[in-house]
Amino acid sequence: MTASPRTPLIAGNWKMMKTRPQAQRFVADLAALCKQGCNTAVEWLICPPFTSLDAVSSVLSQVPCPVKLGAQTMESQPEGAYTGEISAAMLVDANVSYVILGHSERRQYYGETNATVAAKVQAAVAAGLTPILCVGETLEQREGGMTDAVVIEQVTEGLALLQNNKASMTLALAYEPVWAIGTGKTCGAAEANRVCGLIRSTLADVLSPQAAQATRVLYGGSVKPTNSGELFATYGLNKGDIDGALIGGASLVASDFHAIGMSVQVPAACAV
Ligand code: PGA
Repeated sequence: MTASPRTPLIAGNWKMMKTRPQAQRFVADLAALCKQGCNTAVEWLICPPFTSLDAVSSVLSQVPCPVKLGAQTMESQPEGAYTGEISAAMLVDANVSYVILGHSERRQYYGETNATVAAKVQAAVAAGLTPILCVGETLEQREGGMTDAVVIEQVTEGLALLQNNKASMTLALAYEPVWAIGTGKTCGAAEANRVCGLIRSTLADVLSPQAAQATRVLYGGSVKPTNSGELFATYGLNKGDIDGALIGGASLVASDFHAIGMSVQVPAACAV
């Protein structure tokens, strides 16, 4: 892989965890750690539950390195009678710039399909949000030799409604093998890189070679400070196809989240 302008993205997916005071405590802890050392070469992102978006947003300026705010899902419709849902415009209004879409837990527990995910991706991009489209195979699919076919299909169908919108598109993807999420089983770094490369080549086919080179492809699934070094040192920026991580469990602990971000490159002192 040749040199690229991609900035590594370190994204924390808090799932249905943390009340507002707990969320603000996390930000205070992260701020203290970043004052001691902060990797400004990466983009930091926290995706709390909807209820904590405002609480996190109001204290993010405490962190000396820029940290962005993300959401974990959204509705594709712009507004209306969709009880319990949140629109892209509401997220923008809440200072959100990223939204995780098509996470395997949304697909598994809430019936999201490639078609519903595609509508959300389209609505997110139209509103100026950067979607993080999650793809990945189940254990059964992996053992059945279907990993590549599943991933190619999820990427192709998930982006199907973007094809007329190439020029203005911002996008990230995350390869999250379902069997590695929250299980402690990490995908081997070489295999994670291979599938991230497959996602990039699919992007080149579905969108354009330029879009494929500009788009961050993250790995997610039991990323921790103990394994992030190998992922990034061997297959990170300009070496492979892993442009960052989508982190669940380890993103709930400020010191772990900070350590993972610091492992991406040699840390530089943070300019406060
Ligand atoms: P995990 O979750 O890091 O706890 O495996 C990752 C995710 O679901 O995004």
